[in-house]
Amino acid sequence: MTRFARITGTGSSLPPWRLSNADMVDMLARRGVETSDDWIVERTGIRARHFAAEGVYASDLAADACRHAMSAAGVAAQDIDLIIVATSTPDMVFPSTAAILQHKLGMAGCPVFDVQAVCSGFIYALTVAHSLIATGTASKALVVGSEVFSRILDFNDRTTCVLFGDGAGAVVVEASDIPGILATDIHADGKHSGILCVPGHVSGGAILGDPLLKMDGQAVFKLAVGVLEDTARATLAKAGREAADIDWLIPHQANIRIMQSTARKLKLPMEKVVVTVDQHGNTSAASIPLALDHAVRSGQVKRGDTLMLEGVGGGFTWGSVLLDF
Ligand code: UT7
Repeated sequence: MTRFARITGTGSSLPPWRLSNADMVDMLARRGVETSDDWIVERTGIRARHFAAEGVYASDLAADACRHAMSAAGVAAQDIDLIIVATSTPDMVFPSTAAILQHKLGMAGCPVFDVQAVCSGFIYALTVAHSLIATGTASKALVVGSEVFSRILDFNDRTTCVLFGDGAGAVVVEASDIPGILATDIHADGKHSGILCVPGHVSGGAILGDPLLKMDGQAVFKLAVGVLEDTARATLAKAGREAADIDWLIPHQANIRIMQSTARKLKLPMEKVVVTVDQHGNTSAASIPLALDHAVRSGQVKRGDTLMLEGVGGGFTWGSVLLDF
């Protein structure tokens, strides 16, 4: 019998400190940096984001999201046999945030590791979990996206600092007789690594290079709108489904204009697109599971719905997962 992988529970976590665009305008004005609510809303669709307090790490947000996901799935921590964390803002250089998370959840023994594919990280992590479950290596996985991007933002650069936020989303993925994940598709092209990066690194006890986020927004935008259509069509073809079969498109939440463009190309009305970028900003690897959990808890996404999850980001990386929820 084919061994499938199904999402059986979702959870998320947002730090309590919420900054509206007005708060951001005030904060940046104190540094002599000019922006406006109108510009941010018109160009990105973002109205607010959450920032973690000092001392709160990606593993803390991840632990909170995982507890909600395990409770929704009715799965106990000791039954989990795999943890994958997608993050570009790990607690430490090493060990992995997944290892720290495992201990915070009171677990030991199962394999744990991080995936680094920036905003496509959750799609990569879900793809890996799917493969490990399908081959019998794991049966009950926690797949998490967790980020504290506020730590790597340059608040003197208005072209990037207004875009990002902190948060985490998690899913429990279990082996199942029924699908489940129908098809996955992941890609990268490293020649574009410079258009979205944090170029600094640790060497000899010091940070060499710039440890803050740099982005060529227009270059990322142009690449994103092309690859998001391509990868959606690739997973649909692998699964033998049509775009019209999608009940909900849950794209990476970076910019409402990118989401509108993808929906238009797939001939999906915006009513079928889950949008949380307005309230969360771009939370990188966390954005898709965070949006999924909000859509499940608000009653938008229901059991049996067909979901297209899509990510794109630094690397350059992109990919998608088509699943029956
Ligand atoms: O998560 C990974 C994936 N990331 C993305 O998908 C991001 C993709 N890129 C984007 O979403 C968009 O390119 C941005 C939102 C980053 C920028 O939007 P844009 O429409 O491409 O704006 P732009 O970079 O062309 O800038 C237009 C103008 C510039 O002024 P001038 O040169 O025309 O006078 C900028 O200086 O807007 C100015 N500007 C701002 N003004 C007020 C840039 N940032 C701001 C700001 N407030 N925060």
